[in-house]
Amino acid sequence: MLEKVDKIEKEALAELETVSSNEELHAWKVRYLGRSAELGEVMQGLKDLDAKQRPLVGKRVNEVKVALEEAYDERVETIRQKELSRSLKEDRLDVTLPGRAQPRGRLHPATQTLRRIYAIWADMGFQVYRSREVETDEYNFELLNMPAYHPARDMWDTFYTSREGIVLRTHTSPGQIHVMRERTPEPIRVILPGMCYRYEQITARAEIQFNQVEGLAVGKTITFADLKGTLRAFAQRMFDQDVRTRFRAQHFPFTEPSAEMDIECFLCEGVGCAVCKYTGWLEILGCGMVHPTVLRNGGYDPEEFSGFAFGMGPERIAMLRYNIGDIRMFWGNDLRFLEQF
Ligand code: PHE
Repeated sequence: MLEKVDKIEKEALAELETVSSNEELHAWKVRYLGRSAELGEVMQGLKDLDAKQRPLVGKRVNEVKVALEEAYDERVETIRQKELSRSLKEDRLDVTLPGRAQPRGRLHPATQTLRRIYAIWADMGFQVYRSREVETDEYNFELLNMPAYHPARDMWDTFYTSREGIVLRTHTSPGQIHVMRERTPEPIRVILPGMCYRYEQITARAEIQFNQVEGLAVGKTITFADLKGTLRAFAQRMFDQDVRTRFRAQHFPFTEPSAEMDIECFLCEGVGCAVCKYTGWLEILGCGMVHPTVLRNGGYDPEEFSGFAFGMGPERIAMLRYNIGDIRMFWGNDLRFLEQF
């Protein structure tokens, strides 16, 4: 019996030397230390031995068991160390390898321009106010001093809806009435940004949808000089500290007097080029003193209050700034265009 135990020990230790993976290690453990291992069989056979032999063999079996367990633990550690140095050597990280660039999203050029415009007007104390894109004929035209059949309505090609008297707003100016009506007569300084819609033939210069930023300032002593000074300050911040501006007479039914503001063409610096159509100037907004009828429609007494209003197109401004030749790029969803901003 004792020889058998010795043999098992020898065999087991010899085999353990050849074990090199975790799976083999596990198999070895099951084979020599598991429930149905040979050593166990020997233990079971003890009862058949004579009384003198029994304690000797029992003791020996226990010794071998302890020895095998120790050898096993040692082997586990050796294999772990080997595995560690292998992985340190083979899975080495090359920190000099260039990284993989993450694709990065960005804001739409129209949004970027809008945000710049908001920031400039916020600095000058103008609140952002929003009003609806689906308007009544009354707000879009009538309350802005354009009664039904007034020829001035032809300035805006309108999307009418199947509901009588409901249109898509053609400009942000109806917001002026909304703001005034929401306030008890008191000074106002707001901008009204948002999408506008016009029934246009889509070309490089005309879209059926575009943003506008309306501005409205109402108070007791506001004059045309305030309008000019404020809009000039805006242009200096938006374009360049020493940009030249000029105001040209214009007509809008809801302002009197009305004007358009031009800035000197920044491409040719006033000399004349294709972008400014050889005039040296670029038109950037329409403006004027709020018409007394409009003030009255907003609930303000024109004898007591006066104000100025303006409307500008952020896409147009972005086109000038970045020399974009085709307004259709804005809503064309062409990534090659959008990724440039
Ligand atoms: N609403 C005008 C347009 O769409 C612009 C404008 C706004 C003009 C406010 C004067 C005052 O063309």
